[in-house]
Amino acid sequence: MNNVTTNPNLIQSSWSWLARNITNTTSFSAYFEPIIQVFLPQWRADRIRSYVNDVRRESDDMYSLVIKPGKQWKGFRAGQYIELIVEKEGAWISRFFSISSSPEYFEQSGLIEISIRIQENGEITPWLPQALKAGGVVNLSQAEGEFCLDQLAKPVLMIAGGSGITPFRSMLQQIARSGQTVTQPVTLMYYARSTEHFLFRDELKTLEQQTPNLTVHFIDTHDLGFFSDAHLLTYCDDFSARDIYICGPSPMILHARNLLQNQGVKQEQIHYEFFGPEPVSLEGSDQASSVLFQQSGKQVSAEKGEAKTLLALAEEADLKPVTGCRIGVCHQCICQKKSGVVYNSKTKTYSDTGQEEIQLCVSVPVADVVLAL
Ligand code: FES
Repeated sequence: MNNVTTNPNLIQSSWSWLARNITNTTSFSAYFEPIIQVFLPQWRADRIRSYVNDVRRESDDMYSLVIKPGKQWKGFRAGQYIELIVEKEGAWISRFFSISSSPEYFEQSGLIEISIRIQENGEITPWLPQALKAGGVVNLSQAEGEFCLDQLAKPVLMIAGGSGITPFRSMLQQIARSGQTVTQPVTLMYYARSTEHFLFRDELKTLEQQTPNLTVHFIDTHDLGFFSDAHLLTYCDDFSARDIYICGPSPMILHARNLLQNQGVKQEQIHYEFFGPEPVSLEGSDQASSVLFQQSGKQVSAEKGEAKTLLALAEEADLKPVTGCRIGVCHQCICQKKSGVVYNSKTKTYSDTGQEEIQLCVSVPVADVVLAL
């Protein structure tokens, strides 16, 4: 008997080739998507159809979606995030959110939670709780991200600002639920602008009582100010010997990162997660640049030293370009640049001066730019 070894890559590429030649896409399921959606609304070939179990209010401007991911979902590590994709008025819109519950909870209940702050004037976050009820359908990506606390090999300092508490809630729940004995000290410094704005306050206090070596400090910035050297010495004076995790608004992360580095903390000890693309600082850019939106005939100026994305500038000019994730992943915001130089904050590269396609949400003008928009 002959042993025939079949190369799975060969089968897959032949299948893609066949699909491309018949359907003009690399997958047959994508071709049949509109037909399947008649029977299964919101079905997407490349995403995991999942059900909303509950929509729970956490505070005036925050709610949690409790979701049962579809069977193909592979689980996650505490601290990771997912892409949530929903259909709104015929358009697919995606946003990225940290998972705020623990992997252990998912294993036991089949559920995950994502906790979302309502963005004033936002397109999606105020709309989601009205649009989704128990039994509603959303699409999920697999979990992604490296902002994870897998082992507690060293003492840890967590610094959270506002809704940046969500990945830490997942990590701390995981530590408590897994029955892991915490031998290393874990300190959470949690900043919010007033007492009512601390999320999961009671839950965090309970976790602190249940978990030896865990200390939680609620720091009201209205009374005590922002993260500072004095706070470090007050709440965690051995910080330089710890792994440090930071999550919160971008200015807070940049400020905390600089302050820690000035205190001699090594770069590899500092882990952080921006909600969105990392803000751009264009050193040496002291020139104002203008952006001309050709089709709409509008023109705006980016002030010197101001690193606003082309998407932000377009929206300030009352234009409504197509967008999805707003962090450079989905490619829905691609636009033709006719001329000018832009800096891509995701790839950390500068464009050429000529005509090319760029992503509006992660591109910042560094010279006068003309866009087809
Ligand atoms: S909106 Fe997703 S890449 Fe720009």
